[in-house]
Amino acid sequence: METSIRPEQPSDIPAIHEVNHLAFGQAEEAVLVDNLRNSDAFIPGLSLVAVKEGQIVGHILFTKIKIKDDQGNAYNSLALAPMAVRPEFQNKGIGGQLIRSGLDQAKALGHASVIVLGHEHYYPRFGFVPAEKWNIRAPFEVPSAAFMGIELQEDALGNVRGIVEYDKAFEGV
Ligand SMILES: CC(C)(COP(=O)(O)OP(=O)(O)OC[C@H]1O[C@@H](n2cnc3c(N)ncnc32)[C@H](O)[C@@H]1OP(=O)(O)O)[C@@H](O)C(=O)NCCC(=O)NCCS
Repeated sequence: METSIRPEQPSDIPAIHEVNHLAFGQAEEAVLVDNLRNSDAFIPGLSLVAVKEGQIVGHILFTKIKIKDDQGNAYNSLALAPMAVRPEFQNKGIGGQLIRSGLDQAKALGHASVIVLGHEHYYPRFGFVPAEKWNIRAPFEVPSAAFMGIELQEDALGNVRGIVEYDKAFEGV
């Protein structure tokens, strides 16, 4: 049976919490998703679920961030975080489907770029490259290969540099 990707609906919220809790084996990311949903960083069309035979088997969230340079400029971007697939459905391509659909949807909504902190061998297959290419840095210590970005519009990051500022919901996670 096909897996379909669609924006979350209010009735999906408990299942999204469960998918995150199961995938990460702890509550932090599930709580983070709930907190981000109630924050200014939330974009309703960019919390996507993967549905298979009526069951929510995966989730991906893109939220608003700023990239701030030392001249006082602030640029809008998106963070991809977190994403989760139910353990028994992992390694079947569902994560990849969520990322591709999410990037397409973010582009269609006019967003310029996406930043992700994640596995350096996974995200490049979707077009992500180390964000150091644009002099975009994380606000915390992180291996540079794991901190990546992608342009959704041509040269969207060409004039952007600086430090990513996440929503305060991310603090402590
Ligand atoms: C990360 C995750 C969402 C990927 O979903 P998925 O449906 O299994 O992904 P896909 O089937 O599209 O791709 C699987 C591939 O990604 C690799 N991969 C993904 N995340 C990885 C990670 N954190 N570490 C190592 N490998 C990872 C797998 O090894 C596999 O590699 P291969 O294609 O070369 O064999 C899922 O594994 C998951 O929920 N993990 C737990 C939560 C988590 O770590 N989320 C990411 C951080 S926000």
